[in-house]
Amino acid sequence: MAPSLLAGKTAMVTGASSGIGKALTHALAAEGVRVAMVGRDAGRLERAAAGLAAEATTAWACDVRDDAVVRETVAGIEAAWGRIDILVNCAGVYLSAALPDLTNEQWDDLWRTNVSGTLFPTRAVLPGMLARKDGIIVVLSSVAAHRDFATMTGYGTTKHAVTGFARALTNEVRQDGVRVVTVVAGPVDTPLWDGLSTPIERADMLTPGEVALAIVHAMTVSPTQVLEEVLLLPQAGVYH
Ligand SMILES: NC(=O)c1ccc[n+]([C@@H]2O[C@H](COP(=O)([O-])OP(=O)(O)OC[C@H]3O[C@@H](n4cnc5c(N)ncnc54)[C@H](OP(=O)(O)O)[C@@H]3O)[C@@H](O)[C@H]2O)c1
Repeated sequence: MAPSLLAGKTAMVTGASSGIGKALTHALAAEGVRVAMVGRDAGRLERAAAGLAAEATTAWACDVRDDAVVRETVAGIEAAWGRIDILVNCAGVYLSAALPDLTNEQWDDLWRTNVSGTLFPTRAVLPGMLARKDGIIVVLSSVAAHRDFATMTGYGTTKHAVTGFARALTNEVRQDGVRVVTVVAGPVDTPLWDGLSTPIERADMLTPGEVALAIVHAMTVSPTQVLEEVLLLPQAGVYH
């Protein structure tokens, strides 16, 4: 079998301790990628790496809401591995609330995590990618940005924002060899839904592994192509 187009590359995956980011870490490791796993809890990251070879991953405790900490983390990964070829912005938080109940604190945290938490890592890795004229940046958006569901004014607007961010960035860096992929996922059965009412049965949702496979597919098209947007929905639909 031909080696993967990704073999030997390095990746930084935010939100790697759970759900989609964890599944993607395992999928990338299977392609021969070394993954710098980012999340706020080092122990949780290490548990998420269980089963992978020790040299396949490193755990970086980092809050993506903090620009200075993100810059330090990116500098640390680049010092350790020489470069970051792939960035996946998977860290995110979800909230469903009727608008009169949505507090300023909730709104701010959604924006700081989902939007600033995408800007900070992306801005920090980009100079290295531009200098090498090579790189892949993945942004996790959501079908909540495309179907505009009730009670998702806060979460949905953050996902509109990251979609717009990724679309503009695609055009900014396409001549410089950097490819930007927006992943628009329907409901995925991850701990994000724990304790919450769900739009469809969890058994009918996408699995994190299915989303990870779609992202790996987007990363492994020919370097002369960019799969700019991946819209992946459960066959069962988005709402029952
Ligand atoms: N599940 C879905 O139905 C679905 C659908 C479409 C899109 N998405 C998007 O996909 C992404 C991943 O979601 P998921 O379902 O995999 O969620 P999840 O299982 O809850 O995982 C979220 C991850 O983000 C990390 N995280 C949260 N806040 C962080 C912060 N401030 N700094 C660093 N890491 C942080 C968490 O680790 P710590 O808490 O330990 O830091 C965890 O690793 C999110 O952007 C989400 O909006 C999810």
